[in-house]
Amino acid sequence: MAGLLKKKMLKHQIAMLKSTAPATALVSGFGGGKTECMIMKVLQQLFAYVNPTIAVAEPTIDLVKKILYPRFTEIFDSAGITYKLNKSEGVITVHGIGTIIFLSLDNSERIIGFQSAFFHVDEIDTLEADKAELVWNKCLGRNRQKLVLRYPELEKIKDKESRFPLYNTISAYSTP
Ligand SMILES: Nc1ncnc2c1ncn2[C@@H]1O[C@H](COP(=O)(O)OP(=O)(O)OP(=O)(O)O)[C@@H](O)[C@H]1O
Ligand SMILES: [Mg+2]
Repeated sequence: MAGLLKKKMLKHQIAMLKSTAPATALVSGFGGGKTECMIMKVLQQLFAYVNPTIAVAEPTIDLVKKILYPRFTEIFDSAGITYKLNKSEGVITVHGIGTIIFLSLDNSERIIGFQSAFFHVDEIDTLEADKAELVWNKCLGRNRQKLVLRYPELEKIKDKESRFPLYNTISAYSTP
């Protein structure tokens, strides 16, 4: 997938991409590559499972429009992947692959009525602590879609039963 983005990931980005923890935060200074890493992790998850729903939240819907729609559509277009972007619903559907739901943290009432397998909260530091906790709990409530791997034959782990499932994880991105 790094090849698709035509970027060599940095050490902290690779650590984030490899994390198998139920919740992981990537904390770096301004321009440290958090949002780019989030996009990469969304793509990784999107193609690794059968029909996942992945939720991605930014502080405002304006940021979704300015940064995420162009970035995802650029990547899909350059890879020849067919998708449908529904701007009024805030959803990208990649046919036969999965769905990305875009949300804004300033409208956390929308964190309702869907089941996701993965949640990404960009710029979580822009929220007051009590609001961040509320959003976090809402994300946990949504993040319960169960998945199967798209390519189970590529799984190298022998004892699959003892392994924590890689879905239903939350990733947060923050500036210190
Ligand atoms: N691995 C990488 N290789 C080359 N350029 C990168 C890499 N990761 C990110 N960038 C570029 O660095 C710039 C900053 O990245 P990004 O916006 O992801 O950082 P950020 O930590 O989210 O910034 P902010 O603190 O403003 O939210 C962007 O132009 C992005 O394309
Ligand atoms: Mg960012």
